[in-house]
Amino acid sequence: MSGPVAFVLGTRPEIIKLAPVIRACRERGVSHTILHTGQHYSEMLDSVFFEQLELPRPAYELGVGSGSHGEQTGRMLIRIEEALREVDPGTVLVQGDTNSVLAGAIAASKMDVELGHVEAGLRSFDREMPEETNRVVADHVADHLFAPTEASRHHLEAEGIPPSRIVVTGNTVVDALERNRELAREKSDVLGKLGVEDGDFFLMTAHRAENVDDESRFRGMLRGVDRAAAAADVEVVYPVHPRASERLSAFDIDVTDRIRTVEPVDYLDFLRLETAADVILTDSGGVQEEACVLGVPCVTMRDSTERPETTAVGANRLAGTDPAAIRRAVREARGTTGDWENPFGDGTAGERIVEELLADLEPASP
Ligand code: UD1
Ligand code: UDP
Repeated sequence: MSGPVAFVLGTRPEIIKLAPVIRACRERGVSHTILHTGQHYSEMLDSVFFEQLELPRPAYELGVGSGSHGEQTGRMLIRIEEALREVDPGTVLVQGDTNSVLAGAIAASKMDVELGHVEAGLRSFDREMPEETNRVVADHVADHLFAPTEASRHHLEAEGIPPSRIVVTGNTVVDALERNRELAREKSDVLGKLGVEDGDFFLMTAHRAENVDDESRFRGMLRGVDRAAAAADVEVVYPVHPRASERLSAFDIDVTDRIRTVEPVDYLDFLRLETAADVILTDSGGVQEEACVLGVPCVTMRDSTERPETTAVGANRLAGTDPAAIRRAVREARGTTGDWENPFGDGTAGERIVEELLADLEPASP
């Protein structure tokens, strides 16, 4: 590595999961610059995380905003390339599978700069999902692949990626949880604000395009969650992502009283809700991991998952969007104890990633 590290990020999960790597750079004195594509821009999807995770505002705010995949990714590509020319980094780091990752990866791969992909090697094997295309492309143009688990390393090797480029680091989600879970318990008053008690509610998130942009799948999820909660005689807290919020209006869906819809919440409030929930129902990638690490049973309302480690240890079950299947999965989930093993590492992924980059600077042995 020569020259600074440039982080290209753009959405809520990227800010949360790159925070440990940015912090490790700061602690090691590694010069770094943050480029924000602007894919997420609403305060509760963006600036609130910079503040809470004590990150500096990005040096480059590219202001790309929303749009179709082509418009959004195209605008990002142009603006990222311009910014990278100015920054002239040695290494670009991207994290995950969003359009910001795709654009950052392609821009870097066409320039004289090394590319590192954090959370490499995840596969749902469902090419209908935009995220699957994004992660496959990023992996295949990256020079450094930071795989969270051995299973992700295997996927990369099976696709012909040279083993010398791959390092298993654990997932930075664990680093972020370890730093913030106690803080959330001390500082967050979200349970009081919402009037819910520890262990007495379900937490739901749903925002994936394949679910909420499809009226019958979205209605199926809501019906399934409502019935499962009625059977357990609990309320549901659902912080609604803006994509889902728009679809609720467009499809004219009335959510039942049992499901409390609220605005997206900040990270500490969300962690507090996760740790206190009886069951978590989600279609999010990061939330599946967090539930697993926190020992809270999870039901994933998708047909596939790129996080099979969570189902393998017994923390998570795939239910799709059929109401009866969701209800069955919740019944099973409530029978579990939460003492499964954590498959995502020991909370040092951020440091390991920076160590790997620094090791590149050391002269090769004679
Ligand atoms: C994106 C990622 C998804 C990730 C999610 C994290 C892609 C293809 N998808 O989905 O993998 O799980 O982020 O949350 O990159 N909007 C706002 N405010 C914002 C951002 C978006 O109101 O700050 C609204 C806009 O109307 C926009 C819609 O949400 O059209 C969807 O935003 P977009 O960035 O296209 O994708 P996400 O659904 O957020
Ligand atoms: N999250 C949050 N507030 C919310 C919902 C989620 O802080 O209201 C956090 C959550 O803790 C996790 C991340 O957002 O770290 C997951 O992001 P999201 O579900 O948007 O994206 P995905 O992981 O599916 O790409």
